[in-house]
Amino acid sequence: MKTRHFRSLIDINTSEFNKIIQDAITYKALDNSNNVPTDFTNKTLAMIFKKNSTRTRVSFETAMFKLGGHAIFLSEDSSQLKRGEEISDTGKVLSGMVDLIMIRTNTHNEIKKLAENSSVPIINGLCNLFHPCQLLADMQTITEIKGNNLSDLTMAWIGDGNNMCNSYINASKLLGFKLKISTPHGYEPDSYTLEKFGENVEICELPGSAAEQADVVTTDVWTSMGDEKEDEERKKIFKSYQVNMNLMSKAKDDAIFLHCLPAHRGEEIDDMIIDSKYSSVWQQAHNRLYSSMALIKFLLTLQD
Ligand code: CP
Ligand code: NVA
Repeated sequence: MKTRHFRSLIDINTSEFNKIIQDAITYKALDNSNNVPTDFTNKTLAMIFKKNSTRTRVSFETAMFKLGGHAIFLSEDSSQLKRGEEISDTGKVLSGMVDLIMIRTNTHNEIKKLAENSSVPIINGLCNLFHPCQLLADMQTITEIKGNNLSDLTMAWIGDGNNMCNSYINASKLLGFKLKISTPHGYEPDSYTLEKFGENVEICELPGSAAEQADVVTTDVWTSMGDEKEDEERKKIFKSYQVNMNLMSKAKDDAIFLHCLPAHRGEEIDDMIIDSKYSSVWQQAHNRLYSSMALIKFLLTLQD
């Protein structure tokens, strides 16, 4: 069987996406009663991090442990990648030793190159273009709160048209929800992703129009990892894209607020919202554990 990878959400189909969400919800219930089955004893996940992480590292490492397997953390600095070993060579070596490889890196091309040189599934733990693992947790969270009919919902993306925004576009195509996006000019989402997968997307000139009657309002940092040099400039450009009470009041009364975290309070998000009744960000963050477990199960079961 051809090795399946999770380079972006487009690597899975709608029914697989829904199955992962349902498995994540099941794992959460099992974990709450200390009944997670250790179905993946002796399975090993290598995790390559070329960028910082709290949630992605801890969720995948804990997920492997709870499933009976083991995770190995490899930072760029402490591995031979730092000394110039090609990612393709690293892929050939690691895939002979472990059952899954997760990578957080700068370019999507590097993820594709690793996948081309790996006999085991590659998981995109975030790159410049996508953050598909986060979307699994986001869709699990929305399902838990709003129910299974995600295609009935309207979601608003406010701020940078970044890796998270591109993954929301992919999710809107797969799950059928309406996605309203408002970004400053020059910070639009990836044009290819929008053209190919944006059939349920509406681009809004003003953040207020995107938030209008939304069921879910979400945003992310104005300066992603790797864009730090632009931080001061971005703070000025994105000023009117803060999710605050004024913006949130345009959404439905029972709307929820999501943020993949880490948040920069006082920039893209006002304390009044992240700590308010609208906010589901802690549930969303905790769901990274369960959606990681479900993704691991999906990829390991497929290959058997
Ligand atoms: N949301 C997310 O991926 O968090 P980390 O950067 O902490 O992994
Ligand atoms: N867009 C952010 C997401 C962090 C989880 C970044 O790439 O830094």
